[in-house]
Amino acid sequence: MQPDQTFHMTTDEFRYFGKELIDWIADYYQNIEGYPVLSQVEPGEIRASLPPSPPKKGVSFDEIISDIDRLIMPGITHWQSPNFFAFFPANTSGPSILAELLSAGLGVQGMSWSTSPACTELETHVLDWLAEMLGLPERFMSHTAGGGVIQDTASSATLSALLVARERATNYASNEEGCNGRLVAYASTQTHSSIEKAVKISGLGSKNLRLIEVDDDFAMRPDALASQIHADREAGLIPCFVCATVGTTSSNALDPVQEIGIVCEKEDIWLHVDAAMSGTAALCPEFRYILDGLELADSFCFNPHKWMFTNFDCDCFYVANRAALIQTLSVLPEYLRNKATESGAVIDYRDWHVQLGRRFRSLKLWFVIRHYGVEGLRYHVRQHIELAQQFAAWVGKDPDFELAAPTPLNLVCFRHKAGDEFNRQLLDKINHSGKIYMTHTSLNDRYTLRLCVGQTNTEEQHVQQAWELLCLTASKMQQF
Ligand SMILES: Cc1ncc(COP(=O)(O)O)c(C=O)c1O
Repeated sequence: MQPDQTFHMTTDEFRYFGKELIDWIADYYQNIEGYPVLSQVEPGEIRASLPPSPPKKGVSFDEIISDIDRLIMPGITHWQSPNFFAFFPANTSGPSILAELLSAGLGVQGMSWSTSPACTELETHVLDWLAEMLGLPERFMSHTAGGGVIQDTASSATLSALLVARERATNYASNEEGCNGRLVAYASTQTHSSIEKAVKISGLGSKNLRLIEVDDDFAMRPDALASQIHADREAGLIPCFVCATVGTTSSNALDPVQEIGIVCEKEDIWLHVDAAMSGTAALCPEFRYILDGLELADSFCFNPHKWMFTNFDCDCFYVANRAALIQTLSVLPEYLRNKATESGAVIDYRDWHVQLGRRFRSLKLWFVIRHYGVEGLRYHVRQHIELAQQFAAWVGKDPDFELAAPTPLNLVCFRHKAGDEFNRQLLDKINHSGKIYMTHTSLNDRYTLRLCVGQTNTEEQHVQQAWELLCLTASKMQQF
């Protein structure tokens, strides 16, 4: 080995290529509407264009950047396009992207307070800010017995909540002995698939997940929940966890948290509120009603990485009793022992979730909240909701289309009246045009189109074009 040899990028090269890459990203955002929103490649096409073996010798960074356009861009579905209306938003923003870069640059591992105190303390602080911004009950703030933590995803937050619920119901015995097949969890038929995954991972078993009936608006029926809990107790089972959803993925249904909370309180069952997709709406006081009853919940999560201009990944998870969460997840091997932890005066977030290592994600929230201010965030969230309401009004007035569910926030569920097959083909044609991207769901066993407004740069003209494209495509289909 030659002692003075290095393959590392020099700081001057980093400075130079870093600016080039930032320019590339800025150009991408300027030209994003020129790309087909949904990637048009066939399965295997991207891999086939890549060299079969890794390079023996490194190549210039210029070459790497130019290959992004050539090899990668054809296989990108443009989630950041203002014409993206599919699934749920996964929006981002300049301040968030820059914070992500800073986080990568600092390369901090924030598993314990002592491994980077700022990583822990900024997180505690911005999670308290967010609790205030959303009007969350005080019991979720860090000066009480509760507090918040950033998780990678809502799926991990739900899993953590379910694990504490399991431990609370068994007096922390299942951590030692495993599950005995008697613990039961509850969510509505419209709940997100992450609940089923959590039930499998936590050892409750998917046969012990009860999917509770919903009402005409696709919201969980508290009376059906209460009867199922009663039946399970009669059968000698142990109800331990209820997940209420504020804004279901399929149709944005709002489970009645207050009434569900009363049932859980009476039955001493852990209530988790999953507001991953829609919780951001609570930034605006006029939409806070969606969280009515949250003071009865044991845990809550929402995803800034969906609708708060913060790039993936960033889920905010709050608990009312952090001691129970820590008791469930804490493991302290010798090599992690340190004075600060032993003093009990600090938070070690590694005990608040499944993984040990953690990135400096709170920088993203800090940059975003400070850049926009609460008023700026509210402005854009209101705009998205207004645009969705406008679209719903157009659907409602058109004799060929109908709304398929209420539109409380920024998701419109609707269909053409010509039937399932027609709607399926309509969606295919629209997505293949590359002009917009929408997805579908099934409501009351009927194929339903979904238009979700939440991309950072979506404006009135984009929603209007989407509606015009739908109407034009549908009327052309009817002519043949
Ligand atoms: C209501 C709801 N819960 C949970 C999730 C899962 O989110 P994540 O990807 O953060 O795990 C989603 C994602 O669509 C969702 O809409």
